[in-house]
Parts: sequence; structure tokens; C-alpha cells
Amino acid sequence: MFARFNPKPMDLMRRIIVLLIAVLCCAGSAHAAAQPTPATIVIKFSHVAAPQAHKSKGAERFKKLAEEYTGGRVRIALYPNSQLYKDKEELEALQLGAVEILAPSLSKFGPLGIKAFEVFDIPYLFRDTAELARITEGPIGRDILDKLETKGITGLGYWNNGFKILSANKPLLRPDDLLGLKVRIQSSRVIEEQMTALGALPQVLAFSEAYQALSSGVVDGTENPPANFFNQNMFQVQRHATLTYHGFLGYAVIVNQKFWTGLPDDIRSALERALRDATPYANAEAAKENADALAAVTKSGKTAMHDPTPDERKSWEAALLPVRGRIADRVGRDLLARIETELSRSGP
Ligand code: LMR
Repeated sequence: MFARFNPKPMDLMRRIIVLLIAVLCCAGSAHAAAQPTPATIVIKFSHVAAPQAHKSKGAERFKKLAEEYTGGRVRIALYPNSQLYKDKEELEALQLGAVEILAPSLSKFGPLGIKAFEVFDIPYLFRDTAELARITEGPIGRDILDKLETKGITGLGYWNNGFKILSANKPLLRPDDLLGLKVRIQSSRVIEEQMTALGALPQVLAFSEAYQALSSGVVDGTENPPANFFNQNMFQVQRHATLTYHGFLGYAVIVNQKFWTGLPDDIRSALERALRDATPYANAEAAKENADALAAVTKSGKTAMHDPTPDERKSWEAALLPVRGRIADRVGRDLLARIETELSRSGP
């Protein structure tokens, strides 16, 4: 005879509790097993410079440091050479959130409605990159970047390219030599005013279209630092260049604001640190590349490089210095005065 299963009430209670604990544990571990590891954040960084250009090297250094400092939680996908977007489109794409990071030239923010950046285009305002650093690395530079917030963009910092040379298919010894020439420029009203002051006819064209326009004769000349002149093969289609170094070309590293503020705090600070640490490298590469490009172009024999005599230099300055007064209202008189005051202090 089998004893009938007749548990005591206490046994039954214990069994139910054990069963409940087991179910809860299973559910807990199943839940834990289903937990995904934090998803990798993919950040698209688009720009218009050539893959071998210093902007690309800066972007690669930023990528390496960003991925390292975030322990692999972030992956930076680089898109150089206008392969995703050209000048104007890339800013629109950033605002729409189609890309997360850009490094456009400071001369390209006017069409967005942020004119203050064009202060960096004023001819002969800055003598060297040390003077620029006093602005870009201080409160004035920060205030200019902050103006982007109204456009859904956050400015993280500045990168240098260098000072610009002028080129054409005829010698440009003095300002008059540009009279009537069609010259490709970036979308900056200050640069437009500068070319008009030289008697040239400025034509705004995307960077990716500049070589073709020069080579087909749509435009006669252009300006850019030697690194861009070399990397974009402009030297192949411009027989003369003059080392006027009349204006600066630099970049703002910018991000989509919504994306940026939505990042976890630790990721955001790691990315800020990566950019801070990549910037001196990007700037050093720019200086080196501009020097190397000048040597390479000279060696190629394709473009005759002209270094202005002191007298010729004075004639360029005389033609271009009045631009400052004409565009002061556009870039902001107060901003310009702040920069002039800062630069007039004995520095650094
Ligand atoms: C240009 O359009 O000439 C430059 O801004 C391109 C660049 O990004 O260096």
C-alpha cells in the first residue's frame, strides 16, 4: 500500500516559496542573458578634403583616440573627399542628423546665417597662427562657436589649415594683375569683397568643383593654402602663384546638437578629450603639409611661385586693408574690435 501524498500545510508553503524563488531566478538570469551589451555608437564624420590631406590625418587621429577613450563604445566612420556631401549639402546634412561631425572651413558659415566666422577671412588681420590661436583658443573663439547653437549645431573647436596664396595662368605681381579675372572663392562675403577690391570677378564654387573649373577655364584663378593647391591638383592647371599669404583658412569641428546633447555624459567627455588631444597633431600636420606642398609644387615646375618683393607686398596690403572697414558691419563691429584689442596686447 502506498502512502497517500498528503503534505502538511507548512511543507506546501515551503515548496511554493522554493518554486517561486526558482522561477524568479530563472526569469532573472534569462533577462540578464537577453540584455544587449551597450550598443556601439556609430558617428559619421564627413569632410571635403583629400584622404591624404592634413584634415584627414586630424580626423584619423580623432577617430583613434575617440575609439580608445570610449573603450570601443564609439566607432567613428570617416567620409573624406566630399564622398557623402559637398560644401553646402554637408551643413544641411548635419542639421538634419544625416551625419554627426563635420570640419568645414570657417569661410562657409555665411550661407547658414552665421556671419561672425567670416572675421577669419579678413585680409591681413592675423599675422601668423600664434595670433590666431589667441582668438580661437580663447573666449572670443568660444563665443563665435556658440553662435551655431541657434542653428542646431554645437561647435567643438578649431583646426588650422594655413595662409592662402593667389594663383592664375598669368603672373600676379601686383593687385592690378587680377583685374577682370574670374576667381573661384568659398562662400564668404568677406572673400567676395576681397576679390572685388582686387578688381577680380569672384565665383563661388564648391571645393570639389574647383579643379574642374580651373582646368576647363570656367574660372581663371583661385586662392588656397599650398596644401590644398597641391592636394587638389590645382598646381597642374595654374601656371603662376604668388605667396601673398593675405588671408587664413581654418576649420570648425562641429556636431549635430541634438545628437551631442543626447550622448551619455562620459561618452561626450571622452570625445571632447579626443578632440582636444587630436588638435595639436592636426595643426602640426597642417603646418608641415603646407611647407611640403610648397616645395613639391616648386619642384614640379608646373606653377611658377612668386615671392613678392617688399614693395609688391605693400601694394597687396594697400589694396586689401580697406576691406576690413567695408565688412565690419557684416562680421560685427564689436567682434572685430574685441579681436583687434586682443591682438594689440603684447602676447601670447
Ligand atoms: C575650400 O573650399 O577651398 C576649402 O575650404 C576646402 C577645405 O576644406 O580645405
